[in-house]
Amino acid sequence: MATMSWARLTWAAAYRLGLSPWDAFSRDRELIDLVTGPDAPVPGRAIDIGCGRGRNAIYLAAHGWQVVGVDLVRGALKQARRAAARKGVTVDFVAGDVTRLDELGIGGDFKLLIDFGCFHALNDAQRLAYVRAIEAVAAPGALLWMWSFNSRNEDGETISAEEIGRSFPDWRVHRAAPMSVAEVETTMAALPLPLRPLRRAFSKGVFPPPFRALLEMKRPPGDRGQSAMGASTNSRTPSAKPT
Ligand SMILES: C[S@@+](CC[C@H](N)C(=O)[O-])C[C@H]1O[C@@H](n2cnc3c(N)ncnc32)[C@H](O)[C@@H]1O
Repeated sequence: MATMSWARLTWAAAYRLGLSPWDAFSRDRELIDLVTGPDAPVPGRAIDIGCGRGRNAIYLAAHGWQVVGVDLVRGALKQARRAAARKGVTVDFVAGDVTRLDELGIGGDFKLLIDFGCFHALNDAQRLAYVRAIEAVAAPGALLWMWSFNSRNEDGETISAEEIGRSFPDWRVHRAAPMSVAEVETTMAALPLPLRPLRRAFSKGVFPPPFRALLEMKRPPGDRGQSAMGASTNSRTPSAKPT
């Protein structure tokens, strides 16, 4: 697919040119809470969608998850494999397109899906394919945690929990909210000098703050499978307010 070849080239160029600021972001506190907090699911299969150099896939593996990381860019995956070896963890890093997961032979039954910065980069048709692709590999009650750059619509509004719900009709939205400016600044505090203007741009509101979301795949009718988070999921409430 020509669009995807173009995307692969663009992402590969970003990595080669050192234009990958996310590599220097601090680990997201929501992800840490999801993996190590009081409601953390029991580890099982997890997939890092658009895993890049593998920083989050490796983090999950270090906390007991059996992780598959998928990315378009082979060079980034090569570095991810080296980083995993240095940390002494095993991650199955697979080159491929996340909108065509069925072609990658990665199996299914993933109870945790994470996406840091991939979904927002897809066009509308690719987003539809992405949703279908992840639903085909997700376990009943699977959790999807997303971190995404944000945009404003023509009324100047940033993404809302309702919009996330519309994109993922078969998922329950537990949380979907933009980050606070203070939190964005903390996340980007360690950016190397050439990339610091990015942090300033967020601080000054040039770009709207990224948003994060936690969704749970609704069980198919009649399915009595367990939610990945057990009974505690019901205690979370959807929110469109900044955290
Ligand atoms: C903003 S980067 C984030 C990388 C990684 N998640 C991290 O946090 O370090 C987005 C990643 O998504 C990958 N990507 C974008 N579109 C993709 C697609 N259709 N299939 C697989 N990977 C994709 C890019 O190659 C890139 O590595």
